[in-house]
Amino acid sequence: MQLGIDFTDRHVVVFGGTTGINFGIAEAFARQGARVTVASRKRENVDAAVDSLGRHGGAVHGVVADVRDFDAVGRAFAESVARFGPIDVLISGAAGNFLCEAKDMSSNGFKVVVDIDLVGTFHVLRQAHAHLRKPGGAVINITAPQSFVPMRYQAHASAAKAGVDQFTRVLALEWGGEGVRLNSISPGPIDGTEGFRKLMAPTPEDREFARTQVPLQRFGSLDDIANLALFLASPYAAYISGAIVPCDGGGAFESVKPALEAAGRSLSTSWVA
Ligand code: HXC
Ligand code: NAP
Repeated sequence: MQLGIDFTDRHVVVFGGTTGINFGIAEAFARQGARVTVASRKRENVDAAVDSLGRHGGAVHGVVADVRDFDAVGRAFAESVARFGPIDVLISGAAGNFLCEAKDMSSNGFKVVVDIDLVGTFHVLRQAHAHLRKPGGAVINITAPQSFVPMRYQAHASAAKAGVDQFTRVLALEWGGEGVRLNSISPGPIDGTEGFRKLMAPTPEDREFARTQVPLQRFGSLDDIANLALFLASPYAAYISGAIVPCDGGGAFESVKPALEAAGRSLSTSWVA
């Protein structure tokens, strides 16, 4: 079930938008008539996403870029803006993650997640700023419950996503005067995604345990997140900025934390061994 809000000819850029939650968001905007740019590291993911989004009939552009490469991110925006014009909506959602206790994590393992999630978010927003529609642009960062719920095996992602949240709030202060709104979505366990499979439900038993922990007794869907993104990017959310909005079935402390830590107890042990 998807919200119907017209985005005809609006330029929507989704960084990290070729798979999972972010692809679901890109697809929702494509269905609503937007011109959509998606970007990520892997050529095969970009090509598959462009192919799939193109079936909705609108204009789609794909760019290969790693958010850790500041110049490559800049080139991606220059290319997409030359094609589709100023950016009306920017989604920044590239992320990397794995389960590992801090005492077993290498320096590079910690750094790689911070570089993708936090420094990557800075690169994307910093390079986008010159191209955002002013006034009227809307930016949505994708964060995670780890940003405010301390979880074992998640020192890297918790630190990175906490940084993303505060970065969102600071930029809402700095860019508000230009008529640009910044918000963040914090998804709970979203079914069918890499993050969910990798972190919370590597086995059928983990999956059922995770489901029973969610107050609403079900996992989230791509549409649950995409509907929130459509709303936050729309004029109906014109007075919302600097907000971190959970979409998690009723409480990340109750659901995500026990399920992720249960999965981590078995997985991180096997990695260390
Ligand atoms: C311990 C690990 C590890 C693991 C990698 N490393 N996997 N350490 N346990 N399972 C270490 C490596 O040994 C290496 O350190 C360092 O991390 C970098 O690994 P690379 O494989 O060289 O990095 P790279 O190819 O850049 O890949 C980045 C990645 C990878 C983060 C490791 O998983 C990735 O690309 N992920 C993208 C997709 C993804 O994770 N999506 C889920 C997002 S979910 P050394 O010291 O050996 O060099 C999410 C929140 C979900 O964000 C919340 C659910 C509720
Ligand atoms: P996913 O499918 O792995 O999505 C990650 C996306 O980012 C992919 O398109 C990936 O494509 C891209 N990406 C990864 N590293 C990149 C880099 N260095 N540069 C550019 N693009 C990069 O994972 P997901 O589970 O849907 O997660 C999407 C977002 O939701 C993330 O921000 C995650 O933290 C958040 N989240 C997810 C859940 C969940 O239940 N799944 C819960 C809470 C929060 P390439 O591999 O082609 O680069």
